[in-house]
Amino acid sequence: MSARQPIEVFPTTAALAKAAADRVVASAGRAQAKRGTFTIALSGGSTPRALFQLLSTERRIDWSRVQIWFGDERAVGPDHPDSNFHMAHESLLGPLNLPDNQVHRILGEAVDLRAEALRYGQEVKAGIGEADGWPVFDFMLQGIGTDGHTASLFPGTGAVGVVDRVAIHVVQPAYVRPAVERISLTAPVIQAAREIVVLAAGPDKAQVLPEVLDGPLELEKRPSQLIRQAKGQVVWLLDSAAASQLKGV
Ligand code: 6PG
Repeated sequence: MSARQPIEVFPTTAALAKAAADRVVASAGRAQAKRGTFTIALSGGSTPRALFQLLSTERRIDWSRVQIWFGDERAVGPDHPDSNFHMAHESLLGPLNLPDNQVHRILGEAVDLRAEALRYGQEVKAGIGEADGWPVFDFMLQGIGTDGHTASLFPGTGAVGVVDRVAIHVVQPAYVRPAVERISLTAPVIQAAREIVVLAAGPDKAQVLPEVLDGPLELEKRPSQLIRQAKGQVVWLLDSAAASQLKGV
């Protein structure tokens, strides 16, 4: 059994967001010093909002040398309240006023989502340096769903098992909300990142985390376990509520 990946637990969501922001700052500094730019893939959902709001006033990062990407997107337009881009724009991208050429949006409004997944995958491959044939993001922010999904790789869909392309179209299971289809980076791309920070907060994540972190590897059942097979540096940043059922933390 491989050792459990590093976990840090914080008493409040504010402290959690601050710790995550400090990691983004450190990662950006390393990347920009070594390669001149910093590539980050943002997760969606609601948890990252506090982090994005903190980063929107962060002056320790040279934002002119940051490329913003998305780990996944809902099949809605950029102004839709369910859009991951919309949340990131409201909390981070708008306040930073980043130029369009620094923000790589997944076009959730695309009529042909399979074609859009292919297009986004090609944009990622063209825009990100590669290693072993996979694009390598400097920083990959991941969330986790109560069903153990990450990005839009939902259990029972086979999505986590797609290992021959960069991005895929995913038809969401019936229980998923919002009830829209997705486009998601694939497991190999997430796993290739130099650094992965998983953010999870709230009591509703407490039950799934022990299975994901410590349970037997069953990726189709708990796709977030793909992070346990990541190549780079991984840390799970949790608040006390989310960590409440984890042994030894
Ligand atoms: C999405 C996300 C997804 C998210 C988890 C957690 O598009 O919904 O990318 O993977 O990170 O569902 O979402 P919450 O932060 O809202 O709990």
